[in-house]
Amino acid sequence: MTIPHFRRVVWMHYKKFGRHSLPWRETHDPYQILVSEIMLQQTQVERVIPFYRKFIKKFSTAKKLAAAPLSEVLKTWQGLGYNRRAKMLRGAASELASAGTRLNLIAELEKLPGVGPYTARAIAAFAHNEDVTFVETNIRTVIVHHFFPKKKKVSDTEVEKTLIQTLPKGKAREWYNALMDYGAYLKRSGISHNARSKKYVKQPKFAGSLREARGAIVREYTKGVTSHARLVNLFGPLRKAQMKGALEALVAEGLISESP
Ligand code: ADE
Repeated sequence: MTIPHFRRVVWMHYKKFGRHSLPWRETHDPYQILVSEIMLQQTQVERVIPFYRKFIKKFSTAKKLAAAPLSEVLKTWQGLGYNRRAKMLRGAASELASAGTRLNLIAELEKLPGVGPYTARAIAAFAHNEDVTFVETNIRTVIVHHFFPKKKKVSDTEVEKTLIQTLPKGKAREWYNALMDYGAYLKRSGISHNARSKKYVKQPKFAGSLREARGAIVREYTKGVTSHARLVNLFGPLRKAQMKGALEALVAEGLISESP
């Protein structure tokens, strides 16, 4: 497939079926984009939307988030899961608010807690319309589908090389929105090539998992349950050992306070 043809396919899909009303697409504010990208890291778009709205309403600027107590932030995060993200986001916000980190430099962005090469570049594209490349699952699906239809394992480096060649310069913001929407569409249609990615890892089961244990503890904690004895017994005696481990880790990470 030629590059002009590929671009036409992506733009056509975006015009007709693009998710033009996603709330984080209505802003170019780097802080708000950071919030959306952190939420979208491990949670699906549809689930993120109401949480993002609520979060931004409450903490509309990095300054406001940095000034809020962690318990308040966790309460607003409640239900999204992977609560460590909330703590990292608040950490990132305090650096932004105090050190005045300039949110337009990828190298600076990457130093913030919870912000890796992907998130830094996503902010550069969505907030500043910079011609950068970054690979996430939907983007990878599109590139593999159109440019590596037969190859068994496709590395992110190969995907990135193709992204550089195909990116319409000066239109990064719209282009990545379009790629993500088209990739989500391909997946919904049953086309997913992530199993052919060299980085592919199967999502672990939620029921019985450590992630579930951690989520349950934080949920109770934000409701006001602070007794560690009660927290470790949430799933009964059979999972007490796992809950104890989960609680200890949460305490060590600063998400739950030590027993009074
Ligand atoms: N996944 C990660 N970032 C996204 C975005 N900005 N829009 C839609 N899906 C995403």
